[in-house]
Amino acid sequence: MNEYRDIVGVGFGPANLALTVALDEVPGNGTDRPSALFFERQPEFGWHRNMLLPSAKMQVAFVKDLVTFRNPGSAYTFVSYLHHVGRLARFVNNQDFFPTRLEFHDYLEWVASHFTDRIRYGAEVRAIRPAPADGSPGSLEVAVRYRDRPGSQVVSADNVVISTGLVPRVPDGTVLGERVWHSSQFLGRFRARDWSGARRVAVVGAGQSAAELTAFCYDNTTNAEIISVVPSYGYSIADDTPFANEVFDGQAVDDYYFGTKESQDAYWRYHRNTNYSVVDDDLLRELYRRSYDDEFTGARRLNFQRLSRIDGVEETADGARISVRSLSTGQRNHFDVDFVVFGTGYHPMDPGPLLAEVDQYLLRDENGRYRVDRHHRLLTRDGFGGGIYLQGGTEQTHGLSASLLSNMAVRSGEIVGSILGRAKDGWPWTDSRAADGSEPAAAVS
Ligand code: FDA
Ligand code: NAP
Repeated sequence: MNEYRDIVGVGFGPANLALTVALDEVPGNGTDRPSALFFERQPEFGWHRNMLLPSAKMQVAFVKDLVTFRNPGSAYTFVSYLHHVGRLARFVNNQDFFPTRLEFHDYLEWVASHFTDRIRYGAEVRAIRPAPADGSPGSLEVAVRYRDRPGSQVVSADNVVISTGLVPRVPDGTVLGERVWHSSQFLGRFRARDWSGARRVAVVGAGQSAAELTAFCYDNTTNAEIISVVPSYGYSIADDTPFANEVFDGQAVDDYYFGTKESQDAYWRYHRNTNYSVVDDDLLRELYRRSYDDEFTGARRLNFQRLSRIDGVEETADGARISVRSLSTGQRNHFDVDFVVFGTGYHPMDPGPLLAEVDQYLLRDENGRYRVDRHHRLLTRDGFGGGIYLQGGTEQTHGLSASLLSNMAVRSGEIVGSILGRAKDGWPWTDSRAADGSEPAAAVS
């Protein structure tokens, strides 16, 4: 008989790590807690490792960790971590809400290290399917393939929580290769070779990834010219001012979910610049300062191709040739570079391939998207028993924070509450107007 768990988690990034902690903190003795098993395809815990650039800062305040907004008394807060490693006083003296990504990664690893008994690394989930009606426990089956062994394993479950993360995006026709990278591959590729003799490198995009990579390439090559292909006139600032920041609060999820189409559109029109195609204030100013200083000394290394988009790339014997189209003149410039890195962002999480075998049971809205209740559970046809939950890929129903850390602590509590049928109980499960799993009228076709 297959192994059985109440909950199987697909992916073990911050979202399912937050869920692990929420499950561990279900009140009562351990026997009241649902059993859970998580599968992660990486060989060990890792959070966007290829973008752990030494000076990169978090884009969320440290208190928006995995747990604090759900349970500030948890043993797994960022403050508990600081206390454990003996840096709490100095962290406070430093007076900075935003740790480096390296430090936050260390925090995430520290939390994950407490739950190794329920995580299988090097294990990729390939499919989720209905369980056969042969009396086996569980309504769902999860097929898993391990890196280090042939064949696949099937685990039965009543609930599956999918948190497989963002999907790298490059312009149509781009073929990634030895010298043509997406930002999600960056450090692994960069560190595989000595680039001290690089003459020219290119970074594409005007979001946080591209700006961080432009600064990194400047600092970590000696004489290379850095071509930065920027689609706007110049980098734009990420709005993290107080009123705008409220779009990431728990309340905003309700306001978005239960809002009208018009109010949902307003979130995107007015607040997309809290997250997408924007750059942190400090970094943006730092890049400008370098560019200015270089002009003064005459050693100009930052070459911003403004109002330009890349529209072709070809790998060559010793680098790549990029085609950059100016939006002002329509003209194309070609540059030969040692490497090019695309900071062109991500598609949202796409659970579609994993759900192909249950697709016929899933309800969709008039735009063909899965219907998701307020507590992140997919709505299914009558008679389908399993609970399938999404952490990510729900920006169209749950708003801007769906792919971010900001609301993870609360969201994982909502999912646990829903699985236990206790969504209305309040702490540790945040209450909401749709505790019975109802949807806003606008979403129901
Ligand atoms: P995440 O992508 O972290 O984890 C998903 C996991 O699932 C991965 O480990 C993957 O290997 C695994 N997986 C995928 N498919 C699988 C399968 N079939 N079987 C098994 N495992 C599978 N947000 C924010 O709020 N503040 C911030 O500071 C940042 N910083 C930041 C930096 C960078 C460089 C990026 C690209 C993004 C951010 N973000 C962010 C946004 C980011 O989405 C967020 O921080 C989390 O990574 C989301 O966590 P998840 O667990 O949902 O996905
Ligand atoms: P992003 O914000 O989506 O930015 C992508 C950029 O690429 C945009 O400027 C986009 O321009 C541009 N682009 C797309 N196609 C292009 C083309 N053909 N030519 C030129 N430019 C092109 O992606 P991101 O910077 O990777 O950020 C994604 C998420 O990760 C965000 O949530 C961000 O906050 C997060 N992140 C966080 C950190 C950190 O915490 N330190 C670091 C990196 C990323 P258009 O808008 O015109 O399409």
